[in-house]
Amino acid sequence: SVSSAFDFASNLFPLSSSAAGYTALGAPASVSLDPTHALNGGSLEKHKSLTYLNGLSLVVGLIIGSGIFSSPSQVNKNAGSPGASLIVWAVAGILAWTGAASYAELGGAIPLNGGAQVYLSKIFGEWAGFLFTWCAVCVLKPGSAAIIAIIFGEYVMRAVVGPDAIEVNPWLSKGVAMAGLVTVTFLNCVSTKLGTRSADFFMFLKFVALIGVTVTGIVVAVTGFSWKGDASEEWKSHGWFDDTNTNISNWAVALYAGLWAFDGWDNVNYVTGEFINPSRDLPRVIHTSLPIVIVAYLSANVSYFLVLPLATIESSNTVAVAFGATVFGPVGSLVLALIVSGSCFGALNATTFTSGRLVYAAGKEGYLPEFFGRIGVAGLGSTKIHSRSSRPGSGRRWLTRCIADDAGVFYTPINAMVLNALLTAAYVVVGEFKTLLTFYGVAGYTFYFFAVLGLIVLRVKEPQLERPYKTWITTPIIFCCVSLFLLSRAVFAEPLQTVIVIAFMIAGVPVYKWRVAGRNTSKETEGSGWKFWRRWGRR
Ligand code: ARG
Repeated sequence: SVSSAFDFASNLFPLSSSAAGYTALGAPASVSLDPTHALNGGSLEKHKSLTYLNGLSLVVGLIIGSGIFSSPSQVNKNAGSPGASLIVWAVAGILAWTGAASYAELGGAIPLNGGAQVYLSKIFGEWAGFLFTWCAVCVLKPGSAAIIAIIFGEYVMRAVVGPDAIEVNPWLSKGVAMAGLVTVTFLNCVSTKLGTRSADFFMFLKFVALIGVTVTGIVVAVTGFSWKGDASEEWKSHGWFDDTNTNISNWAVALYAGLWAFDGWDNVNYVTGEFINPSRDLPRVIHTSLPIVIVAYLSANVSYFLVLPLATIESSNTVAVAFGATVFGPVGSLVLALIVSGSCFGALNATTFTSGRLVYAAGKEGYLPEFFGRIGVAGLGSTKIHSRSSRPGSGRRWLTRCIADDAGVFYTPINAMVLNALLTAAYVVVGEFKTLLTFYGVAGYTFYFFAVLGLIVLRVKEPQLERPYKTWITTPIIFCCVSLFLLSRAVFAEPLQTVIVIAFMIAGVPVYKWRVAGRNTSKETEGSGWKFWRRWGRR
């Protein structure tokens, strides 16, 4: 059933560790993994526990990731000047903000977990929700994991070779990216707890890095101190708008790079149902978290500009290492390389966790072969492995404690996770950072666009529908116009990536006919979740 499967997937959505979500992930996650529990409608919605502050740290923690430490190269290269880059960052942030505000209205009007999948199904029909899920499984989830893995690989290589070695063989960093991917997939297959426990730590790292960069930049600008002489001379030598690019398509590409760093703003909608007071707190969370992130990103970028020559920012995806090296020398670059690698590893871990659940839910729903909706070791089907109870007193107490959840059982959607890892690996092999950015952006913003367009459609079609939070109507209109501009320019800026995204979407149509169409009639008479869905839809 649409709603329960996605309730279920979203119940497991990794929240920030400090938000109630992760507390929930330890024990309840393993309980909810019992499919019957999910189908009974059992869900974390019963334990409404998220408060305003939980939501705030959740959104901020999800958004801040690899992007602010890697995207500046692409933003600058395509925007041309520091001033233009800052404008791009601000526009990207505001676009994310209008999108998130629109999603807050959707989340209130359609108070189910599941995000875009549910909104699109409700407004345009199940096929639209299916296409979203299809693209999320094939493109969005593995694509974003691949970007994070690649940045992880590049930062690790920088930690190894130092900041000044000019070119690292891309296959070396891709190899490290693969190793990271295999590690997090393994961890997530073995245990739900192992990975999520470390999340607090990774979150802490990200904040240290970002605040460190900002404060350092200001200190350098004011005092002129740095390892490599007077860094503050750098920015005095050129104007803020010198060399601004006038090609509008390049601006679109720059925007995609900036949008990557702001991406993740939709994730709070996956857990709308878990807020104690969603109609009050969801908008509050959106309207504080996005401004915080915008200010943080703008300050970090100003710091980069104050300290680094433009050519340096543009030439590498590891701007934070160059920053550390310039201000604090070799030690600084090593520390930043390690911190950012750690932060990327944490992000990769979190996204692997959610992707596994998404693919699993799609398998349970029948959107994908049932094989992917199974729990446990491939080949063993849904065998439960009672690691503690069946091997009492074995010499593997520590390992058992790590991999077993509170019930003494470990079972995770391994088939789903392996599928996701294989797709991610394919993107790591064929893609590179800058091509994947546009690829991900085009696919992602297509669905953001339709979901927000759906908000406008819903206002016209169902004006009476209860909307606990109503955004200013210009918000979705601005979002739709800007994303339409972005999507239309992508065709000119990056035709290949755009064509591939379109091909993926078209490929989803026969899959929909095969897996879903045709089956709904019978499903309805069976009284499955689909019926529930229709009943709700008529409300
Ligand atoms: N904004 C994040 C970053 O800078 C990327 C978020 C990836 N998207 C997602 N839905 N998890 O790395």
